[in-house]
Amino acid sequence: MRVISCLFSLWISIVFICTPVEGVKSYLFKTCEQSGFCSRNRHLAGEIAKAGGEYQPRYSVNIESILAHDNGTVSGLIEKSLNDGSVVGLPFTISVLEDSNLRLTIDEARRLVGGLGVSNGKLKTRRYNEAADWALQDGKPRIAEKGAVEVKTSSDSLQLKYGEYETSVQYYPFKVAVKYKGETQLILNHDNLLNIEHFRTKEEQTAEDSIHVSPEESTFDSFQDSFKDSKKDKLPFGPESVSVDVSFVGYDHVYGIPEHADSLELKDTVGAEPYRLYNVDIFEYEINSRLPMYGAIPFMFGVKPGFASGVFWMNSADTYVDIERVKHGESTLTTEKRTTSHWMSESGVLDVVFFVKESPQELSTSYGSLTGFVQLPNLFSLGYHQCRWNYNDESDVLQVHNNMDKYGIPYDTIWLDIEYTEEKKYFTWKKELFPDPDRMLSVLDETGRYMVVIIDPHLKVNYEVSDYVVKHSLGVRDSDCKKTYHGHCWPGESVWIDTLDPEASQYWSELYVNGSRLMGNSQNLHIWNDMNEPSVFNGPETSAPKDLVHFQNWEHRSVHNLYGMTFHEATYDALKTRFYNQRPFILTRSFFSGSQRTAAMWTGDNMAKWEYLRGSIPMVLTLNVVGMPFAGADVGGFFGDPSKELLVRWYQTGIWYPFFRAHAHIDSRRREPWIAGEPYTSIMRDAVRLRYALLPVFYTAFQESHTVGTPVMRPVFYETPNNVASYGIEDEFFVGNSGLLVKPVVDEGATSVDVYLPDDELYYDFQTFIALHGQGFHTVEAPLEKIPVFIKGGHVVAMKQRYRRSSKLMKYDPYTLVIALSSKGSASGKLYIDDGETFDNELGDFVNVAFTFDGRKLSSSVTGGLDQPFVQSLARVTVERIIFIGDLKPSKEIKVSQGGEQWVAQYESSEGAITIKNPQVKINSDWTVSV
Ligand code: NOJ
Repeated sequence: MRVISCLFSLWISIVFICTPVEGVKSYLFKTCEQSGFCSRNRHLAGEIAKAGGEYQPRYSVNIESILAHDNGTVSGLIEKSLNDGSVVGLPFTISVLEDSNLRLTIDEARRLVGGLGVSNGKLKTRRYNEAADWALQDGKPRIAEKGAVEVKTSSDSLQLKYGEYETSVQYYPFKVAVKYKGETQLILNHDNLLNIEHFRTKEEQTAEDSIHVSPEESTFDSFQDSFKDSKKDKLPFGPESVSVDVSFVGYDHVYGIPEHADSLELKDTVGAEPYRLYNVDIFEYEINSRLPMYGAIPFMFGVKPGFASGVFWMNSADTYVDIERVKHGESTLTTEKRTTSHWMSESGVLDVVFFVKESPQELSTSYGSLTGFVQLPNLFSLGYHQCRWNYNDESDVLQVHNNMDKYGIPYDTIWLDIEYTEEKKYFTWKKELFPDPDRMLSVLDETGRYMVVIIDPHLKVNYEVSDYVVKHSLGVRDSDCKKTYHGHCWPGESVWIDTLDPEASQYWSELYVNGSRLMGNSQNLHIWNDMNEPSVFNGPETSAPKDLVHFQNWEHRSVHNLYGMTFHEATYDALKTRFYNQRPFILTRSFFSGSQRTAAMWTGDNMAKWEYLRGSIPMVLTLNVVGMPFAGADVGGFFGDPSKELLVRWYQTGIWYPFFRAHAHIDSRRREPWIAGEPYTSIMRDAVRLRYALLPVFYTAFQESHTVGTPVMRPVFYETPNNVASYGIEDEFFVGNSGLLVKPVVDEGATSVDVYLPDDELYYDFQTFIALHGQGFHTVEAPLEKIPVFIKGGHVVAMKQRYRRSSKLMKYDPYTLVIALSSKGSASGKLYIDDGETFDNELGDFVNVAFTFDGRKLSSSVTGGLDQPFVQSLARVTVERIIFIGDLKPSKEIKVSQGGEQWVAQYESSEGAITIKNPQVKINSDWTVSV
């Protein structure tokens, strides 16, 4: 057996490491047609469309069951009628949440009781209803205040009125429509695609006279997954999918539902594959594809001038989404154009939240209030991360570390991939290669550097960690609910920790405890969680069999998409316990709604090809608009060897990813920035230095994201939500609210780009200060050394321009302010500062600095914890330079005033700019500069 497993892992390694770069093995992944529940629901949608007005919808609200509670929640029973006259009871609730969002849940009465006679009697019988508990901040949403909702019932519908919102629930056929400011925005079940595959035993399914089997449910074997490698998934509950359509009324631009290697705007799926949300280890994924990837965020929204509406489908099972733009509505509910979305999940309850707001930014704020905003990162993690699979040993690590300084390239973090461990046993180090990890980490620490090491959820069998997990039943279990499941991953035969189980998470924390033998003492060691979809080399679709069993006997089928999040959350908690008052950094590959609270993510195994560089921008933008902004793609491309030009352009793009890491496959050639030689090395160095100079901008953008959900990499349409022409721009973006607009060069040989200006403001080249003006496309030169970056008139950005080896060493460096005048001659901007590493900001030790320029006077106004220790220590931090860009004629004397004193500063004029030299103002208290 041992021999077989070794051979197997050897084979896997050969396949995975030596396979030539040739594209995804799409045959490994189910198409909709190969997936029972998706094919049944699509088939049903087709039948309903064919039947047109003849179709008899099956779902109606039982009027007598309706109960209006005094907190704005209405509950009752929906009845699904079967052809034999019997009905299936489906309890529902509709509640108005804080922030005027609306939540609808539909469960199944029969599944709430035991004794169903399913093949595996130990399983929890009810439909999985805890996805929301994991996804939502604090587990439960807050309901609207008492008295805020007026509920009216009539013979055919009920109405909920709250503020300028009105939701109506039609009893037959069951439909829910949300109106805002008198305009219908969202309609659930507009097209009657609601389909809750009710529970039936195999006998009930085949005994034709006892229960009707809808044609749409009969063509597939619903009690045995027939996909070729589904490893005998017995589907213990038979068919149990939930699906429904939601129309975005008046919208034809929709976004969201990552992760896919596809455009920012979602495409129609008519006649093509639906978007699939199913976390998998997709090997060598292709660009322009709706195949599932490593993570899933089931949130989709539409934008039109004046409005933005979203649908959050809180279901963690395998899910497909079809999208179609419909030009004219002919229903009684709307005659407007609309975009329909058809959500199909394999199991679980129906649990959906509707958002209707006036702009995409408001929507992001509301979604973030519900699911939690992105963590405020430890500042080092916004610096440059140097990774590859693998840095071989301590001297390799320290050589790379030294070369960074030799070539003047700032960096904060060096990474170790799986080879640092003893036989891929996590929490061990290969002793002969890393004899003293704490010693190595202390060398890094001398210049403020960090290390990130990989720890995956698969645990090699027969060593102390996996032995403990098996012995205490803390692993994911086989479909029998008893034995720990064994599968294959990097270490060969492995078991998987079940981090849905609080006891397992507790044990996980103990493994990291400061001083533990396995992890050493160092405080500058953070963690990378990979393969947590989970990736199972010999499992169906390279993942875990769906009939495995988790904590409290839930089937893996229903929790699949959130497993990865439970794992990285456990790691976050572990690091929080290990560290003394330090923000943990975790990188995760798999994610779900809510992951933003504790982890950064990256887009997995891309390739060193131009199309992957190009594709990375819409991918990262999509993550940013669904509340997961701490995202990036492997700079340089994971598989293969980039040309020098591609590598340079990738660095010039990568410095704008919120998470900026270079990474490479074990078989790719070394490509640290100095290897390419001149002029490439200097160009890459300058790009990295620009990222460091702009760290105050990135940190401020993250702080805004952390408090109000602003995307850090912000699509152009967030800036101009009423400009429909900006809705499809996906190759340029703003950095938060800083006014910096970036259009990276992503085409081989290109020496110019066409940048789109979404409005009529002035946009200054950030390097030459030359202004562009006029909504529309402008061609700008972009030779290899040039990154097309512009600052929009009306903005102030704060930078730190001195070269330092790491962000930590920049802590007390002086600032440079850039004031870009608007066409009216004014500007404003923000800067957030705290110590960048502890949680003292939560105790008030931070400041917000607001800059305003009215044409003559620049004022800086500081609010926050002025008496707090870190803020006080900022007294030594000054502004060393103020650059005004635009048309400014300063008076002879520039007067500076701070703390009741006044003095005069010198300035210099150059092409398009005036620079005030060393005005000597302190950053932590108010000042003015009169020009
Ligand atoms: C897969 C990850 O996507 C990749 O980044 C990593 O290098 C390998 N696993 C090895 O750990």
